[in-house]
Amino acid sequence: MKEIVLKKFQEVFGDTEGVKVFFAPGRVNLIGEHTDYNAGHVFPCALTIGTYGAARVRNDRKLCFYSMNFENLGVIESSIDSLKPEKEAGWTNYPKGVMWAFGERGFVIPSGMDILLNGNIPNGSGLSSSASVEVLTGSILREFFGFEVSNQDLALIGQYSENKFNGVNCGIMDQFAIAMGKKDHAIFLDTADLSYTYAPVKLRGAKLVIACSNKKRGLGDSKYNERRSECETALAELQKVIDIAGLGDLTEEQFEANKSAIKDPVRVKRARHAVYENQRTIQAVAALQADDIVRFGQLMNASHVSLRDDYEVTGVELDTLVEEAWKIEGVIGSRMTGAGFGGCTVSLVKDEAIDSFIEKVGEAYLAKIGYRADFYVVEIGDGPCTL
Ligand code: GLA
Repeated sequence: MKEIVLKKFQEVFGDTEGVKVFFAPGRVNLIGEHTDYNAGHVFPCALTIGTYGAARVRNDRKLCFYSMNFENLGVIESSIDSLKPEKEAGWTNYPKGVMWAFGERGFVIPSGMDILLNGNIPNGSGLSSSASVEVLTGSILREFFGFEVSNQDLALIGQYSENKFNGVNCGIMDQFAIAMGKKDHAIFLDTADLSYTYAPVKLRGAKLVIACSNKKRGLGDSKYNERRSECETALAELQKVIDIAGLGDLTEEQFEANKSAIKDPVRVKRARHAVYENQRTIQAVAALQADDIVRFGQLMNASHVSLRDDYEVTGVELDTLVEEAWKIEGVIGSRMTGAGFGGCTVSLVKDEAIDSFIEKVGEAYLAKIGYRADFYVVEIGDGPCTL
């Protein structure tokens, strides 16, 4: 891949003098969905697929971006002196947002840059291609300008840029999973205080299979912000009767004993998901550590049901993928992953069942939804690096 991006860089920008090549992974969340803005736990991992970037410093103030994933857009130009979100700037709002966010932290970017990207995360799949671009940009700036920031800072700067520059009120999970990724491990992160441990993911004759719904996300971002504010309102109602800082502070029993404080039945469901999903995540990590992969799979399935019925972020596409997966022998667990409203599912599938899983779920999906799903057998990889 390094050769491919260098070759393209040469073609687009004329030569490769002063160029360095970088990589940042995509991520998949194994369990703990919509808990990261509720002071709960998440359990994501970085993937070996991700975004490659070739970059160099310019001797003027220009920013020249090119993506091999959107070749029809050509070189998109901007300036280091006018970092503001613009609709027509398309995907470059992500790297520009990170540059802006570094500036907000007091890091002065002294010159323009040429940046070429090539990602092998399927577009819009829900495997966090945007967070991958954000962390990649942060690594590029750190390397070229010597900014003293840790990988965890890269995650926080990426999230800040997404919230404040790109207007999606996301939690910290995606950027953290990408910036802090570790091969063959998932990250058990407590989003209340960012404490974390790495848990080895030993799947004992099974693999992680991603099924991409190929549904266009559409209203996804606004629905995401809506769920977030429903949870915030529910929290404020609960805080009138119990001393908590976030929904993640509650056990199931405490929630049941206090839920009458929430004045709207829809908000009760949203909060119930956040509380129970957080507890499921804690249990799932314990199950994995005890080598009880069957229990882990059951908790994945329960997570999906809760996201479908209480949180209502699945939709017929994701439900079809998961419900068809559950029918197949050799599927240990299956659930939607990421924000929902489209995107993809993650399934734990025994090695010998993978072919029939892809065939049967694929056929049933096409028959019911009318277009194809794509399947990827993925591996857990490391965080960002310079190649
Ligand atoms: C998106 C957001 C994350 C997280 C998930 C849902 O991926 O970017 O912060 O909230 O949705 O778990």
